[in-house]
Amino acid sequence: MRLSRYFLPVLKETPADAQIVSHRLMLRAGMIKQSSAGIYSWLPLGFKVLRKIENIVHEEQMRAGHIPMQMPTLQSADLWKESGRYDAYGEEMLRIKDRHDRDMLYTPTAEELITDIFRSNVSSYKDLPLTMYQIQWKFRDEIRPRFGVMRGREFYMKDGYNFDLTKEDALHAYNRHLVSYLRTYERMGLQAIPMRADGGPIGGDYTHEFLVLAETGESEVFYDSAVTDLTFGDREIDYDSVAQCQGVLEEFTSKYARTDETHDEALFNEIPEERRRVARGIEVGQIFYFGTKYSDALGAQVQTTEGEKVSVHMGSHGIGVSRLLGAIIEASHDDKGIIWPEGVTPFHAGIVNLKQGDAEADAACEAIEKALVAAGLEPLYDDRKERAGGKFATMDLIGLPWRITVGPRGLKNGVVELTSRRTGESEELAPEAAVAKLIEIYANHRVVGL
Ligand SMILES: Nc1ncnc2c1ncn2[C@@H]1O[C@H](COP(=O)(O)OP(=O)(O)OP(=O)(O)O)[C@@H](O)[C@H]1O
Ligand SMILES: [Mg+2]
Repeated sequence: MRLSRYFLPVLKETPADAQIVSHRLMLRAGMIKQSSAGIYSWLPLGFKVLRKIENIVHEEQMRAGHIPMQMPTLQSADLWKESGRYDAYGEEMLRIKDRHDRDMLYTPTAEELITDIFRSNVSSYKDLPLTMYQIQWKFRDEIRPRFGVMRGREFYMKDGYNFDLTKEDALHAYNRHLVSYLRTYERMGLQAIPMRADGGPIGGDYTHEFLVLAETGESEVFYDSAVTDLTFGDREIDYDSVAQCQGVLEEFTSKYARTDETHDEALFNEIPEERRRVARGIEVGQIFYFGTKYSDALGAQVQTTEGEKVSVHMGSHGIGVSRLLGAIIEASHDDKGIIWPEGVTPFHAGIVNLKQGDAEADAACEAIEKALVAAGLEPLYDDRKERAGGKFATMDLIGLPWRITVGPRGLKNGVVELTSRRTGESEELAPEAAVAKLIEIYANHRVVGL
């Protein structure tokens, strides 16, 4: 992509109404534009990151054996009346009437809809276990939408649902989700800690929230600092292995880590004092096992081997796909702008031409651009006739992790400069060597983009 042809409406001034750094930076970097309270247009740069995050979520869900599908954003109220949640859900549900005066709603979550699909099509234990998920827009009429995409009214969410014959099977699905979520967040360069949480309107006894530690987080959290030493890494996992998934759950949830809703002061005080932490966190996901709550209410039953009809055991599992952009920026920025982790960066590298119009510099930039594209990478080439300072400021603001700077002086010595956005360190390399180094860096971060 050439910057001269792209749509990147960066703002010079800091927007006055944005309270937290991720919101400010997303506005300044031209990623989003508010259309009304808590509702945003995703401009090209923001949309690109959203898609990268979405694709990582898809890859990790499919790796765990979960099946993608899509349900509508507008639902009939009937199923919600059947489950009893139509009245219980409260003001956060956006209720709409169609021209025939039928009650409709914009989906805040989809337990009823998926359970209806299940009960209409599945009647035997032989079709279990089954886990399906979607990544779809949700609407919750939040009383105080704020912090940009962090607490929107319209937001993009992955919601998955498991159907199992027994509680044990459903708990295996729960554990599988926990493992897949650990992998998902790590691929985005994030540490998200599973913490014991409260069921809320979804209900259920078993639930963990995944929290990214950040001062601007809306949740108060209490944890043993030893949990922050745990990483999933690139270990192999067999998602069909009950023991392996259970082992990961135990490893990641046996140390104290809870949100304020489930916090237990006495238990917390049993941790050695130097390891006790009280902090704030951003909830980027939540998993639930809620047994037969919805299958009882909606009659989702299967026949067992003995021919007996039983309600299926279910759980639901969410990831805040659009909120993750804010969370990643909160966790990774400096005073100059965003610093994207390699796994989600909108472009893999920026190319800055210090002397646009200089035949040699232009040709070198174009050759680098071509070589990166040929290797399956996406560079953003700043080919505008602007001063170098302005070009650097834009690159720093939009946060591409790597920058190749090309100028006549370096080219005389056969070199360009490769700079890390995170460390600020530069090295001089032959253009081919800079390209080779980027290919190596991104070898483990292949996500299909847009
Ligand atoms: N208003 C929102 N804006 C953006 N993302 C959201 C919003 N509400 C929920 N999410 C994301 O969707 C995920 C799954 O939804 P869930 O039903 O667990 O939300 P929740 O617990 O009601 O969220 P919260 O407590 O933050 O209101 C959450 O973990 C969060 O990351
Ligand atoms: Mg939640």
